[in-house]
Amino acid sequence: MDYRFKILMVSSEMTPFAKTGGLGDVVGALPKALRQRGHEICVVLPKYSFIDTQKYGIELFHYPMGVRMGNKEEWCSVHRSFFDGVPVYFIEQNDFFYREGLYHDKEMNDYRDNPKRFAFLCRAALQLCLDRGFSPDIVHANDWQTALLPAYLKTLDWRNTVLERSASVLTIHNLAYQGVYSKTNYPYTGLGWENFIPGIFEYYNAINFLQGGIYYADMVNTVSPTYAREITTPAMGNGLDRNLRAKEDRFRGILNGVDYEVWSPEYDKYLPAHYSIDHPEGKKICKRALQKVFNLNPDTHVALLGVVGRFVEQKGYHLLAEILEELMNTMYIQFVILGTGDKHLENFYRSMAYKYGDRMGAYIGFSEELAHLIEAGSDFFIMPSMYEPCGLNQIYSLRYGTLPIVRATGGLNDSVENYNEYTGEGTGFKFWDFTTYALYYTIGWAVSTYYDRPYHMKNLIRNAMSRRFSWDMSAQEYEYAYLKALT
Ligand code: ADP
Ligand code: GLC
Repeated sequence: MDYRFKILMVSSEMTPFAKTGGLGDVVGALPKALRQRGHEICVVLPKYSFIDTQKYGIELFHYPMGVRMGNKEEWCSVHRSFFDGVPVYFIEQNDFFYREGLYHDKEMNDYRDNPKRFAFLCRAALQLCLDRGFSPDIVHANDWQTALLPAYLKTLDWRNTVLERSASVLTIHNLAYQGVYSKTNYPYTGLGWENFIPGIFEYYNAINFLQGGIYYADMVNTVSPTYAREITTPAMGNGLDRNLRAKEDRFRGILNGVDYEVWSPEYDKYLPAHYSIDHPEGKKICKRALQKVFNLNPDTHVALLGVVGRFVEQKGYHLLAEILEELMNTMYIQFVILGTGDKHLENFYRSMAYKYGDRMGAYIGFSEELAHLIEAGSDFFIMPSMYEPCGLNQIYSLRYGTLPIVRATGGLNDSVENYNEYTGEGTGFKFWDFTTYALYYTIGWAVSTYYDRPYHMKNLIRNAMSRRFSWDMSAQEYEYAYLKALT
């Protein structure tokens, strides 16, 4: 595409500064890919207190900045750093962002002022454009936290300003999180009451940030074609399927890519050894290292199954929990899991690791390093999600020759090709029914392939490692979305 866009991306997460899940990875990589394709792009993030300003060379850029919220002016300052050449602006407002978590405290209680915190982020991002004369063609919002941006652009008066012609794109990374809050927060957003109606911001007498964003965005997308289809149905639409259907051709699915500079076994900085399709030897060393971290039996012949992820209902780890003992008791396997979230699941997996000693390990916490080692050191990676907008870990797994075992939903369906036992083709193992039965037998199928059909395993691993889901490809699709938003 010849057109060069000016893009303002606003998000609550961006790797490496602040991440709780895939949104961070996406915002850490897509801007870079867009920049490499010649677009001018910058990112606006909150300046959370845990971001290491020294490490990332973050410097004061603009101060003071007044932002109109409701009927008062809030004051903040803007800091800046560059990440792979992309300018990143950090909004510093300590009442809102000087916290240990992004969205909730240690006990997983949502911060009660979240609607105000993120409404403020949106207005501040636009104010920065006004103050510094940046005129974006596209304002790209991500999830409910920044979903007020399309509404601000459409409903406030921007005549004769740099935002006069800006169009908006809203990416839904997860439709289950909509930002539904008491309407007492509404005046603070500064959006007129005429927008507080069903179909726009009103949702059962509360505010729904995402619903309003969907209504006002010039283009809406989600992160895989299958999830895009799923969420336009009442069964999976989380109450917003009708709103999405109403967008018609202004709603589509664009599969996420992977930042292969970060996620490749050839040069992953967290691994004790590197490997590739033609030189796979290093994978064994990673497997050993992983076994060592968890004090597992140092046997590289046993099938090792890995899991990394947030312990939330979406991910299906409660389904896995139901069959875990049966798996451990009936199959010759080792199992490792890394994650945090639901306290019951945390306790369950911790206690299982204790019970199964040298065959099972659990790390309850967040560790980037261990996430990489599990991707590299495991033979299989399990994602039994109830739903999955895209999912990144299964795509990382492919690249590391760690065969994904996934439920065929959302992006899991779009990125994994099911093993064909007759031809030996495929890149992983899929099941459809969200049942313990289906999960148990699919893991059994994978494990039996490991032991009984090593020639097929080799082929599957080779296939998996050769697949590419580059951001460059997805960035091209975002260009079309941007163009559509502008027309
Ligand atoms: P989601 O965004 O729904 O959490 P994704 O698969 O898109 O799911 O992305 C998850 C990202 O978060 C991956 O990069 C994964 O490695 C990372 N991640 C999740 N939990 C942890 C954890 N406990 N420690 C380290 N990384 C984690
Ligand atoms: C969300 C989804 C996940 C997706 C990620 C990045 O957190 O749960 O499936 O990969 O966003 O788009």
